[in-house]
Amino acid sequence: SKGMFTYDPGFVSTAACESQITYIDGGKGVLLHRGYPIDQLAEESNYLETCYLLLYGELPSQEQYDTFVNTVKNHTMVNDQIRTFFNGFRRDAHPMAIMCGVVGALSAFYHDSLDISDERHRQVAAFRLIAKMPTLAAMSYKFSIGQPFMYPDNELDYSENFLHMMFGTPCEESKISPVLARAMDRIFLLHADHEQNASTSTVRLAGSSGANPFACIAAGIAALWGPSHGGANEAVLEMLEEIGDVSRIEEFVARAKDKDDPFRLMGFGHRVYKNFDPRAKVMKEAADEVLAELGVENDPLLAIAKELERIALEDEYFIEKKLYPNVDFYSGIILKAIGIPTSMFTVIFAVGRTVGWIAHWHEMISGSYRIGRPRQLYTGHKQRDYVAVDKR
Ligand code: SDX
Repeated sequence: SKGMFTYDPGFVSTAACESQITYIDGGKGVLLHRGYPIDQLAEESNYLETCYLLLYGELPSQEQYDTFVNTVKNHTMVNDQIRTFFNGFRRDAHPMAIMCGVVGALSAFYHDSLDISDERHRQVAAFRLIAKMPTLAAMSYKFSIGQPFMYPDNELDYSENFLHMMFGTPCEESKISPVLARAMDRIFLLHADHEQNASTSTVRLAGSSGANPFACIAAGIAALWGPSHGGANEAVLEMLEEIGDVSRIEEFVARAKDKDDPFRLMGFGHRVYKNFDPRAKVMKEAADEVLAELGVENDPLLAIAKELERIALEDEYFIEKKLYPNVDFYSGIILKAIGIPTSMFTVIFAVGRTVGWIAHWHEMISGSYRIGRPRQLYTGHKQRDYVAVDKR
């Protein structure tokens, strides 16, 4: 057994690495961050306090929290040279393509001065990334709509500041709805970390070579972009819009079950969860709350999502395959209600997940580590001799 949990030998032999950050029980639908259940954190905590917990392993005292928040605020601006990177993109570039580029470019600004063997330097890299991701994300949105970039306003809290940079303009003072700011913060919190998922494993593998942490996070962003991973939240909303009406749900469920049809029900299924993703439950409650407070509880997409969930959960294929809604199933409905365009959904996921990527990178780099080197099962040709072209 490892620590207080017991794993079967088969699992331990395949486990890629040990970690103390997040625990998932896929069969029971349990997600703990440093031992704290995700639903309690979503209800009682906030994103930056959860960042502190993931990075340092304990909930902060009020003084520790205030210091952490102020340190993040000191890093929300980006080097003004970064602005010129945006001018190299087409206006219709996907914001995730922009984020891969500009986050990777941060390594050019902080490479020489960064010694990852020095704990203080590792801490500063963490603060810079957590603080700058919202700024860069909002810049990628502003660039795509041809509006001027908004500077961070450090009088605002983390999620308010993000919405200010997304929707504010230099012409008028930002008016951020507390309901939307709370919903945004809960979205970031629910995406903060999820053990050894594809993008976190990418960050760890890149980091195991000693690469610059900003470049490692850019690698994580690239891995997250895929529709099977973080790109699913964008794909869920496109799917709900394509379904268009509850009368067409059965048709799409049938397609998802058809082996010859590549269509999968976006927002359903998970490699680890064979029960409800606990984040999906919290997300569903948040969607009800936010839409009701905004007076759009009759949003047709929410109605389609709820009916689709009901039908799928009663369907023997989904029951047999243990397919349940995952974190991405309801998040898009909340993001749409906040006013976030679909193209920005995965960017939002990347902003929230940055702390998880950094916490795992820091956990690995701070301990004794070796370069990752996945092995393979070779199924190619046995050794054979070269044949000249006129003899082939
Ligand atoms: C995230 O790893 C993480 O923790 C990721 C994440 C995180 O926080 O980092 O939780 C975030 O990526 C959530 C997943 C978002 N992706 C989607 O919602 C896309 C739709 N889901 C599927 O693409 C799929 O469920 C995956 C990619 C999520 C998981 O794929 P797996 O590992 O192949 O799923 P599985 O092994 O459990 O599949 C079992 C069976 C397979 O059929 P058979 O080969 O047994 O015949 O179920 C089928 C799958 O084809 N199946 C689906 C399905 N998901 C799995 N069939 C229809 N619709 C689906 N959504």
